[in-house]
Amino acid sequence: MHSFHYHNGSLHCEDVDLTTISDQHGTPAYVYSAATLRDHYRRLDMALADIDHAIEYAVKANSNLSVLKLLADEGSGFDIVSGGELRRVIEAGGDPGKCTFAGVGKTREEIEYALAEEIYCFNAESEEEVVFISKVAGEMGKTAPVAFRVNPNVDAKTHKYISTGKSENKFGVDFEVIEDAYARASKLPNISLRGLQMHIGSQLTSLQPFIEAVEKVSPLATMLKETYGIEFFSIGGGVGIVYDPALESGKDQWWTEQDEEQKPLTIEQYAQGVVPVLKKTGLKILLEPGRYIAGNAGVLITSCLYEKRGSAKTFRIVDAGMNDLIRPALYEGHHEIVPLRAPTEGNTTSVDVVGPVCETGDFFCQDRELPDFQPGEAIALLSSGAYGFVMASNYNSRPLPVEILVDGSDARVIRPRQTMDDILESERAALR
Ligand code: LLP
Repeated sequence: MHSFHYHNGSLHCEDVDLTTISDQHGTPAYVYSAATLRDHYRRLDMALADIDHAIEYAVKANSNLSVLKLLADEGSGFDIVSGGELRRVIEAGGDPGKCTFAGVGKTREEIEYALAEEIYCFNAESEEEVVFISKVAGEMGKTAPVAFRVNPNVDAKTHKYISTGKSENKFGVDFEVIEDAYARASKLPNISLRGLQMHIGSQLTSLQPFIEAVEKVSPLATMLKETYGIEFFSIGGGVGIVYDPALESGKDQWWTEQDEEQKPLTIEQYAQGVVPVLKKTGLKILLEPGRYIAGNAGVLITSCLYEKRGSAKTFRIVDAGMNDLIRPALYEGHHEIVPLRAPTEGNTTSVDVVGPVCETGDFFCQDRELPDFQPGEAIALLSSGAYGFVMASNYNSRPLPVEILVDGSDARVIRPRQTMDDILESERAALR
């Protein structure tokens, strides 16, 4: 579900009018729906009720402390990729004992911190890393729980920058040599082999690559359980969301019945597909969803500054830029664009919506038929709750947007808009 809909002619998040938010807090602003975050977590949890499982929310998708706290309160564990993300989980009241630590380049400091906090497991991406973790753990008089990430060499059929499960990607240990890697790791003094992990890519919209990967890797997981007593098999994240829907008032889906063939993979279909294969392993199944939980739970609202009619195109220039939401520039990502004022039927123009950043790639759409909205009016870039704010930067010395969490009729600032003073503070000392 999602909780963004038109009510009384104005786009709302749950019971809050987004125009009120843009008037009070300015734009650009990220707005998240607590109800949607909770709903997605619970739907996934329910869909997996048949097997012993744990959800490790992928912190990288949206790491705001209030978002993490909401999910920790639901009982979520967390998949982290840095010491910084572990720190965030702990600050938000999450349990380090429910954290898995992924990533190809863990530093000594990060390994020491994670060992001290007694995380559930390191998901290691190479044998070299496991040797190093064993050394650091030995120095601390500890035993490190470790899983290898296996690279199953399965085509995820997604954008090449977010495909991770092919041999040419930097992630994981090749399927062909993984058994040897476990055999050698089992002889290391300060390692306990706790699981097996994989993640083939992100924004997957069909079931087939997931099935192919779990069918290929499950027998290996069973063998590792029998040989080394591992307790979990993590199948990673990657479930895609609808970015390109038809927003309809009052519906809890963003596509219409006519779009049957475009209907994306639902979380229930995903679970029905993978659960029977996974059940046979007898292992605890871990999942690391990021986008599925947070993607459609957030929008970026931005105001139109100017309309510029060029000889070839009409540009609507808005106050958010690629520094605020980089997905279109980096992955050719599609985000639906809707005005906060409900559009009138049939009144559309083909436009490019562009930001103020000095880059040709600074656009949110090109040649798209959009309802008319004028300078001074605000629009929403939908599906921006995952990999939105977390990937924002200060490029062009632009302060980071405000983040707001809506829960029913309550709207709370969960991170104030950054100021220029915040940005300049750490550099000023060098001038003195
Ligand atoms: N587990 C691991 C090991 C991952 O590398 C990722 C994402 C996830 C879980 C969560 O994947 P999800 O369920 O969110 O698909 N910035 C890109 C996405 C990068 C994903 C990186 N890894 C985007 O905006 O599309």
